[in-house]
Amino acid sequence: EKGGYDYFMLKEIAEQPKAVADTLLGRIDGAGSLTLDEVRIPANVLREVDKVVIVACGTAFHAGLIAKYAIEHWTRLPCEVELASEFRYRDPILDQQTLVVAISQSGETMDTLMALRHAREQGAHVLAICNTNGSTIPRESDAVLYTHAGPEVAVASTKAFLTQLVACYLVALYLGQVRGTKWADEIRAVVRDLSSVSGAVDRVLETMEPVRALARSLAEKNTVLFLGRHVGYPVALEGALKLKELAYMHAEGFAAGELKHGPIALIEDDLPVVVVVPSPRGRSVLHDKIVSNIQEIRARGARTIVIAEEGDEAVAPYADHLIRIPVTPTLLQPLVATVPLQVFACELATARGNEVDQPRNLAKSVTVE
Ligand code: M6R
Repeated sequence: EKGGYDYFMLKEIAEQPKAVADTLLGRIDGAGSLTLDEVRIPANVLREVDKVVIVACGTAFHAGLIAKYAIEHWTRLPCEVELASEFRYRDPILDQQTLVVAISQSGETMDTLMALRHAREQGAHVLAICNTNGSTIPRESDAVLYTHAGPEVAVASTKAFLTQLVACYLVALYLGQVRGTKWADEIRAVVRDLSSVSGAVDRVLETMEPVRALARSLAEKNTVLFLGRHVGYPVALEGALKLKELAYMHAEGFAAGELKHGPIALIEDDLPVVVVVPSPRGRSVLHDKIVSNIQEIRARGARTIVIAEEGDEAVAPYADHLIRIPVTPTLLQPLVATVPLQVFACELATARGNEVDQPRNLAKSVTVE
């Protein structure tokens, strides 16, 4: 059942190109419009929406953080992203014009379920993004967009995360389509980009041997830091979460712009720091700023592990280890940038003798608070 892989996690990492492609399948018509019939919330209701609130936990929360960039950019709607466990114990401001998006692989996460119940009680419309047919969260939502990752067995979420991202992009574009802030030709262009991402993920997977070797060489370390900005920031958080879960190492993700506000004090000799570099073509200002960050931390002794686009030569002089990812539109970059971080964490776990598919103290779905 592991299909020749040592662990389900390795199998699930390898399945990502297909999972991404499957999640797009049948959701775009020949003319390039999105046909998300599953989103049964009527168009007139979606046109009235004045705020999007995303609730989720763990890795699904990171997908939500990335979705915020896409939703704000493509729909111009304000979007908040909340840890489900925090949301339900505040007094969130919700009404019938709020669209709540609940993201959950299992569809059984208690905190997310409670958050969506709370949202519906306030009159908000709830759309679930879920990987498990017929599970509780979609059953209790107004509508569901299923991710087609197939069953995810390993506790550490990988392919479900990539498909959650795809679903979030689709929801953002669909909202744009319905509300008229996104025009057919633009949607077509993004959809074309999304369709080619599956191949890009495949190419990343083919180049992972140096990442594995690097991970093995770091097996004795105690701490790894992750930096990113813009959509690379949630990617950094996800890389750190994977490492905590699997390698039981101290790992933290930071927004690179925050370095000077504290985290730079942590930098010491030979400390591994993974940096997710934004595309130099997209927001070039952010790219240049992060190149400066890499210089700053390296000058203080950090061992820099740099994830950057093919052809981005500006980072090369400051990278102790350079991991290349295919050129991808800025908002979609997390789909390729996350993959090396999954492989990195999985290999470190193996090198440290940890149980990859069943990390200690964790359950695949957290059905208690
Ligand atoms: O099933 P869900 O997506 O609701 O689960 C949410 C989190 O428990 C989950 O993503 C967890 O953080 C994973 N173990 C991360 O790898």
